[in-house]
Amino acid sequence: MASSPSIQTIGVIGCGLMGAGIAQVAAEADFKVVVKEMDATFLEKGLARIHGAWDRALTKGKLDASRMAELKQRLAGTTDYRDLKLCDLVIEAVPEVPELKLAAFAELEKALKAEAILCSNTSSLPIGTLAAPLSPSRLSNLAGLHFFNPVPAMPLVEIVKALPTSTETIEALRGFVTALRKTPIVAPDAPGFIVNRLLVPYLLDAIRCREQGLATTEDLDAGMKLGCGHPMGPLLLSDYIGLDTMDHVAGVMFDAFGEARFKSPALLKQLVAAGRLGRKSGSGFYRWEGDKAVGFESI
Ligand SMILES: NC(=O)c1ccc[n+]([C@@H]2O[C@H](COP(=O)([O-])OP(=O)(O)OC[C@H]3O[C@@H](n4cnc5c(N)ncnc54)[C@H](O)[C@@H]3O)[C@@H](O)[C@H]2O)c1
Repeated sequence: MASSPSIQTIGVIGCGLMGAGIAQVAAEADFKVVVKEMDATFLEKGLARIHGAWDRALTKGKLDASRMAELKQRLAGTTDYRDLKLCDLVIEAVPEVPELKLAAFAELEKALKAEAILCSNTSSLPIGTLAAPLSPSRLSNLAGLHFFNPVPAMPLVEIVKALPTSTETIEALRGFVTALRKTPIVAPDAPGFIVNRLLVPYLLDAIRCREQGLATTEDLDAGMKLGCGHPMGPLLLSDYIGLDTMDHVAGVMFDAFGEARFKSPALLKQLVAAGRLGRKSGSGFYRWEGDKAVGFESI
């Protein structure tokens, strides 16, 4: 049984990069999970992403066949919000576009039971700005739950406390995150919370340096990896995050703070407009084959 008493069934909205990771780790921590996608094609792709991770673990001997069958059985997919009615906790992970998140929250307001906890995995939007479609009685159950990419590997989760979030909700989320064997920190409801407030200007600066010809992609990333002991360079990390997501996050933070360091560089916008979104599209600063960066793209 999952080891968080009040939370047993998890809903995840969006089964992309983050939603798939969240659904995967929740199932692995013995929660029942329902993932909701836009349509059958996206749902199939999202579930295949999770099943693929378990298949690879089976091949490597990290999972046995009966455990894998159990995990797959614990994970259900849907395209209908009504299938989330039994969820104790729902985590929204649709793209970082306020209109999409607000539309999802309007549907969740209708579909969820009154006591369900509702969270957004937004990287940058203040949680309070997502409250508009919710009834006043639900606001004490609204919070941010910000996972890091790749979800199965990253040990931190930021719990974001909005003004009306209750202490009970924060404590229930702390229990949930701990049950995932991750470490929670409670962050204030300001754009970018704690980690992205510091990380995003650094990544955008690296893209500006690349744009200005300071260094090649290879040297820039090697410089920060080897010179600062970072596990990966900033351009590789940007490709991992998704260049479209980076652009959206920069937009939200620039609007909020008005500081040039949060402005999305022209190069980032050009890459997104060209469909070069990083790992998810197979091309960004790097050329990708599946999850592996296999070469440098020309800029
Ligand atoms: N990429 C990162 O490194 C990262 C890290 C932390 C947080 N986040 C945040 O997580 C969220 C999701 O980012 P992502 O990188 O997973 O994006 P993504 O584009 O990989 O996935 C988003 C998914 O949402 C689905 N979707 C869109 N509308 C939907 C709807 N109405 N119902 C159900 N599904 C819907 C899309 O089909 C897609 O599969 C964003 O808010 C992002 O800022 C991203």
